[in-house]
Amino acid sequence: MKPETTAAGAPTSASGKGRIELQHVSKGYGEAWERQEVVSDVSLEIAPGKLTAVVGPSGCGKSTLVNLVAGFESPESGRILLNGRPVGGPSHERMVVFQETALMPWLTTYQNIVFGPRIRGDMPKKALHEEAVKLLDKVGLSEFKDKYPIQLSGGMQRRAELARAIINRPKLLIMDEPFRGLDAMTRELMQEFFLRLFEENRRTNLFVTSEIEEAIILADHLVILSNRPARVREVIDIDLPRPREFAMLGSREAYQYKRAALELLHEEAMKSFSEQQSVQAGLIEAISSRGS
Ligand SMILES: Nc1ncnc2c1ncn2[C@@H]1O[C@H](COP(=O)(O)OP(=O)(O)OP(=O)(O)O)[C@@H](O)[C@H]1O
Ligand SMILES: [Mg+2]
Repeated sequence: MKPETTAAGAPTSASGKGRIELQHVSKGYGEAWERQEVVSDVSLEIAPGKLTAVVGPSGCGKSTLVNLVAGFESPESGRILLNGRPVGGPSHERMVVFQETALMPWLTTYQNIVFGPRIRGDMPKKALHEEAVKLLDKVGLSEFKDKYPIQLSGGMQRRAELARAIINRPKLLIMDEPFRGLDAMTRELMQEFFLRLFEENRRTNLFVTSEIEEAIILADHLVILSNRPARVREVIDIDLPRPREFAMLGSREAYQYKRAALELLHEEAMKSFSEQQSVQAGLIEAISSRGS
């Protein structure tokens, strides 16, 4: 069967619109005596065709959540379902774009993009080539198709990674702070580029970021996580119209979303601060009582 594509060439179809459910998912690390819970009783729906952004304090367990949904890790309790079926291990149905580049340095841009389907052998050679050429054009890298990752700028590398993920027609695209580390100008260009890409195909997307404004301009649903162990503090529906424009960040609605999110994150930061203070006070007390 011929793959379904848009006029611009990127794959569309229901394949990009998976529905993910996390049901009471928990995960921790370490043996009993030093066990640290990282994700605690997270229940969440990542709705089909929607972009769900996740923000939370640094180190709260966002990447752990990504690893669980991607299938790189398994929950200790609870379930993760994709279209009603439990998520097992990693799969090209759930592709991840990480904050560090994961392009293979010994392969060219083109070779990196076709790598997954070529290895699996699940796409006819000609169709794969045509799809790769269309995607290269879409992400603006046609002229760089024979360059190696080291010869690409940071922004180009992220676009190559997007193409490499999308060629698999995943049911869910997972992004873990994909634009972190880019300079401010490139980051904004990437946000704009990604916004258009998402709005064209509405592929179900889980997007982790530490930037509130990035989350607001991209998201349909904004999930605020607590300090570690990560719990869902709140889900804010972002009702800004689409297609989104950056100017919308200046609207009253966007300001209110930002305020609500920042208030929750501030509360979490204060909690973490007072916990650290009481740990320190406890330590000081223990040390001084030993000396007396
Ligand atoms: N494989 C592992 N083994 C032991 N501890 C781990 C493992 N993976 C993560 N952790 C711990 O889980 C906690 C959360 O890590 P995680 O990377 O999920 O947070 P994060 O919110 O993505 O952080 P950041 O904001 O820095 O991206 C950290 O304290 C980390 O040390
Ligand atoms: Mg992380």
